[in-house]
Amino acid sequence: MLIQDIIAKKRDGLRLSREEIEFFINSYTGGTLPDYQAAALIMAIFIRGFDGEELSHFANAMLHSGTVVDLSHIPGVKVDKHSTGGVGDKISIPLAPLVAACGVRVPMVSGRGLGHTGGTLDKLESIPGFSVRLPLDAYARIVEEVGVCMIGQTEELAPADRKIYSLRDATGCVPSIPLIASSIMSKKLAEGIDALVLDVKVGTGAFMPTGEKAEALARTLVDIGVRAGKRVTAFLTRMDDPLGVAVGNACEVIESIDVLRGGGPADIRELTLLMASHMLVMGGVAPDPAAARLRCQAALADGSALRKFQELIAAQGGNPEAVERHDLFAGAAHATSVRADRSGVVRAVNSTAIGMAGVVLGAGRRQVTDLVDPGVSLYVRKKIGDPVSAGDVLVDVHYNDDRGLADALGRIAGAYDIGEGPADPRPLVLKTIEG
Ligand code: URA
Repeated sequence: MLIQDIIAKKRDGLRLSREEIEFFINSYTGGTLPDYQAAALIMAIFIRGFDGEELSHFANAMLHSGTVVDLSHIPGVKVDKHSTGGVGDKISIPLAPLVAACGVRVPMVSGRGLGHTGGTLDKLESIPGFSVRLPLDAYARIVEEVGVCMIGQTEELAPADRKIYSLRDATGCVPSIPLIASSIMSKKLAEGIDALVLDVKVGTGAFMPTGEKAEALARTLVDIGVRAGKRVTAFLTRMDDPLGVAVGNACEVIESIDVLRGGGPADIRELTLLMASHMLVMGGVAPDPAAARLRCQAALADGSALRKFQELIAAQGGNPEAVERHDLFAGAAHATSVRADRSGVVRAVNSTAIGMAGVVLGAGRRQVTDLVDPGVSLYVRKKIGDPVSAGDVLVDVHYNDDRGLADALGRIAGAYDIGEGPADPRPLVLKTIEG
C-alpha cells in the first residue's frame, strides 16, 4: 500500500477502507511513516471527515495500537464516566468512589488539564502521596480489590492517540468531531470497560460552545462505543458558568469531599447523583435510576462513599487522613477578591475566562512541561441568575505567585455580564442520548 494513494483518496473526499486505515495507524505508531505524511492525511480527514464505518475502523485501529486491558476475570459490569471537560468540573472525584461504594466497579483512565479546563489527574495529585502513574497490573488489581482505580494514560494505552494528538495539536487539527471522538473513545475502550456514561459539556466553558456541535460530538462518541459492543449513555450538560464553587486543584478535591459527606454545591451534587444513578443501572445493581439514586444517597449519608474514597487514596499511595485534615493539602499564601462594579443580575459568565484566570495563576499549564500549583484556588461566589450589589464579591482568588495576578483579575472581571434581570440559568441537563 502506498500512503500517498491513501492521502490522495481522502483529499478527494473518498472513503478509506479498513485496511488503509489500519496501514496508516500501524505504520505511524510503528515509526515507519514520517510526520509530514501523517499530518497530510490528518488534515485531509479534518477537512473531509469520516462516515460511521470509517470512524469505527479508525477508533478501533487506535485502540489496538497498544494494550487493551482485559478485566473480564473481575466479576460484574465495569462502568466508567468521561467528561469532555469544563471549568470546576470535579464530578469524577466524588462519583467514582460513590459508584464503587454501591457495588459497581469503576476503571477510570483520566486526563490532565487541557487549555482552560482542569484535569482529574492534576486534582488527584494534590492529595499528598497520591499516584496516578501506576502500571496496568496494579490498576487491574486495585479495580478488583477496592472497586475503583483512577490513573493516567500509560505508554501502553492507545499509543497511536498519543502521537496523533500531538500532531493535531501542532497542525491546527484539534477541533474535529471525528478526531476528538476517536481519540477519547480509543482510550476509554482500552481501559477494560463494559459500559460508559459520557458528560458532554455545552456552553462558555466547554470545547463545544453550541448545542448542535455538542450533540454531534455526543452522537459520534456513542456511535463508536455501540459499534464496539459497549453500552453508552451521553448527557449534554450545561457549562455556562463554572460547576460548583471551587476552581483549582486541591480546592476541588476538598469540594468533592464535601459532596462525599452529603453536602457540597447543589449542581455538583445533582450531576454526581445523575451520573452515578445511571452507572448503577448499567452495572446491574439497581433496577432503574430512581432506585439507584436512593442507593447513592444512602451511601453518601452513611459514610460508605467517603470511606471508599479513603480506601482508594490509600491504595494509590496517598494519605487517607487528608479527607479529615484539609491542612494536609497545599494552600495559598495570598488572597484577594474580584468585586462587582455595578448592581444588577448576573446574566452570563464566560467560564473559559475564569478557567484561564486559574491557568495564569498556576492552577493549569502554560506549557506542557509546567508543573501546576495545587494551592491556587478560585471561589466563584456569584453565578448566573444571582442578584448582585456593587461591591459584592464575585470571585475570591487565592494565589502564591503574583506574576499572573493582574492578568487573572482582569480576566475574571471581564468574564461577568451584570445587567438588568431576571436571568435564569439553563437546566443542568440539556439532553440525554442513549446508545
Ligand atoms: N480529549 C481527548 O482525549 N482527545 C481530544 O482530541 C480532545 C479532548
